[in-house]
Amino acid sequence: MSKVTVVGAGNVGATCANVLAHQDVVNEVVLLDIKGDFAKGKALDSWQQAPIDYYSTKLTGTDDYALTANSDVVVITAGIPRKPGMSRDDLISTNAKIVTSVTKSIMQYSSNPIIIVVSNPLDVMTYAAFNAAGLPKTRVMGMAGILDTARYRAFLATELNVSPKDLQAVLMGGHGDTMVPLPRYTTVAGIPVTDMIDEDKLNAIVERTKKGGGELVKLMGTSAWYAPGAAAAQMVATIVRDEKRIFPCCVRLDGEYGLNDIFLGVPVKLGKNGIEQVLELNLNEDEMALLNTSAEHVRAVMDVFNNMNVA
Ligand code: NAI
Ligand code: 2OP
Repeated sequence: MSKVTVVGAGNVGATCANVLAHQDVVNEVVLLDIKGDFAKGKALDSWQQAPIDYYSTKLTGTDDYALTANSDVVVITAGIPRKPGMSRDDLISTNAKIVTSVTKSIMQYSSNPIIIVVSNPLDVMTYAAFNAAGLPKTRVMGMAGILDTARYRAFLATELNVSPKDLQAVLMGGHGDTMVPLPRYTTVAGIPVTDMIDEDKLNAIVERTKKGGGELVKLMGTSAWYAPGAAAAQMVATIVRDEKRIFPCCVRLDGEYGLNDIFLGVPVKLGKNGIEQVLELNLNEDEMALLNTSAEHVRAVMDVFNNMNVA
């Protein structure tokens, strides 16, 4: 019996709502966008797909936060995406204000939601939502690791000519070019990936993964949405089903991995209470050094946000 709100009915938000409806795991999805009747149209289109694809999830589109009242989970995709030549960090001046104001509006109508941020720059927008929401750190998280890991797994599946279903992997760090795919924690149906692929090829896939978002921006002129929307929906479904699945998510670290007061991607257990556990992997020196570099990068963007004094 869950109600989910998705803010931002653009490419990622509408995809997330549509994928979620197909999973038939929540009673209602409210899609909200600042652009007049845009969300109403997207929700109606999605609802008209229900008799074809067989789902009961009610979809409502609106620009009125009152309709989001008592949401159990809220996904924030509002904001601008990047264009070719832009980094995710270039979006901060616009998206920091949007994410902050959206979070405050959500909190006026829902007292204890779990918030999943998607807007970029992801790690710092999760921090912005956490600041604006006043919720415990277990209830505010960012979606990036599932997407980045999915890209890594998809590239490996192509290279090895195996089903993507059999690729398991962990990836940590910020959602940017400093992200840290972890070959030591990557298996193909339980077999270490390093037994199945040459080091050079694996390194090339790691590098392609780090720039995976940019590859799509170059191809399409805007950023991706199918995999990102599905990844956010997977987080919602895991939470509402209380599945206790383990995914890399952006969360606030207070001492884990020796890092403090920072939002960064790490493996966590997701359930009905949000982030139910942060898993601390036994990283080696090289992996830890890469994670620290990624954390430094995120911290620099957090400083930019702090200096903006977004109210
Ligand atoms: P889009 O432009 O298709 O959709 C964004 C929507 O947000 C628009 O419909 C716009 O009207 C709406 N919006 C803007 N300000 C708003 C406000 N104050 N309140 C409510 N709605 C508002 O963009 P797209 O492709 O859906 O991307 C959305 C965000 O997600 C971007 O910041 C993008 O960089 C990010 N993204 C993050 C990913 C991740 O892995 N974390 C992956 C893909 C995209
Ligand atoms: C992505 O990785 C742009 O963050 C977005 O596709």
